[in-house]
Amino acid sequence: MFYQVERGITMKEGRIYNFNPGPAALPLPVLEEVQKDLLNYKGEGISILEMSHRSKTFDGIIKDAERLLKEIMDIPQNYKVLFMQGGATLQFAAVPLNLIGEGQFAEYVNTGSWSKKAIQEAQKLGKKVNVVASSEDESFSYIPGDIKVSPNAAYLHITSNNTIFGTQFQQFPETGDVALIADMSSDIACRKIDVSKFALIYAGAQKNMGPSGVTVVIIREDLLEKSPDNIPTMTSYKIIGGKDSLYNTPPTFAVYIVKLVLEWMKAQGGLEKIEQINRQKAGLIYDALDQSSFYRGTARPDSRSLMNVTFRLPSEELEKKFVAEALENGMLGLKGHRSVGGIRASIYNAVPMEAVEKLVDFMKKFEKANS
Ligand SMILES: Cc1ncc(COP(=O)(O)O)c(C=O)c1O
Repeated sequence: MFYQVERGITMKEGRIYNFNPGPAALPLPVLEEVQKDLLNYKGEGISILEMSHRSKTFDGIIKDAERLLKEIMDIPQNYKVLFMQGGATLQFAAVPLNLIGEGQFAEYVNTGSWSKKAIQEAQKLGKKVNVVASSEDESFSYIPGDIKVSPNAAYLHITSNNTIFGTQFQQFPETGDVALIADMSSDIACRKIDVSKFALIYAGAQKNMGPSGVTVVIIREDLLEKSPDNIPTMTSYKIIGGKDSLYNTPPTFAVYIVKLVLEWMKAQGGLEKIEQINRQKAGLIYDALDQSSFYRGTARPDSRSLMNVTFRLPSEELEKKFVAEALENGMLGLKGHRSVGGIRASIYNAVPMEAVEKLVDFMKKFEKANS
């Protein structure tokens, strides 16, 4: 199905503006590069899809991906980047399996559905977990402040961006010597952060990093030693890290695309520039919400996400109409998560400014026509 939209810098081949929450928009130059090299990768006579993960070429690609991520996120030397499988959901199990030892416990902040799933997975594995802060009392519309962690906890786990509720940590908790662990699936590399504050960061790639099928794990090297020997191989940071993510066949094509996305990010001017654009993009939509009595943002202003902007209209009927008319106007993926309803605009790094401008323009016209 193709929608007729005007052609702009990023609009080609009948492509439309993609506000999907994940898998999500990829930079057009990345897709074009993939297309160009798909049949015959750099003159090797075979596709990257057909290439051994033990080949020199793929080894170069996975090493480049790690090097570029370290460069772009300014990751200190004593960290390793792992490319794992099983999505962020497998990390919900891998983190407690690797890092909560005999007789230990971990602490979690509950800021929405994904935090809850992380907590439940740890509990399912028989691990002791304390929830030290939660925003469930107000439908997860904010990020709790003043988070205190027990000094003897194995770690504190947070979800840095809550994809469904449109909230994001603006400052990270101070945890002293306790390892801070973050699920950054929906906001990795959207802004500058101090990686040295974290012991481990993980993210399913399919929002800001590339396609689904690969999960990026940034881990401080001293943690690798903690993995017990009796956990499943594919969850063991020690094993996967010890083999530079090549213990078994990694998702080669996904890693290749992550590398291309990172090259694209570097060409954009790196994280500083990307953050600046992300703040402008999100600002345009939040300003439109704040100036309107028709739309109502669902996240508390001090907790608003740069990546997922969530809002309501006066009725569910109007929300349905909004989503349908937006699609007719070449904007896809604006329906809120099925568990909460409403509207959600996911504006990850690869969503261009012009898409956001078009959305804001549409919001204004829709309000006029329906209020
Ligand atoms: C914050 C967050 N964590 C975890 C997940 C689950 O990721 P995956 O599907 O890669 O397991 C998602 C998916 O949308 C997410 O947004």
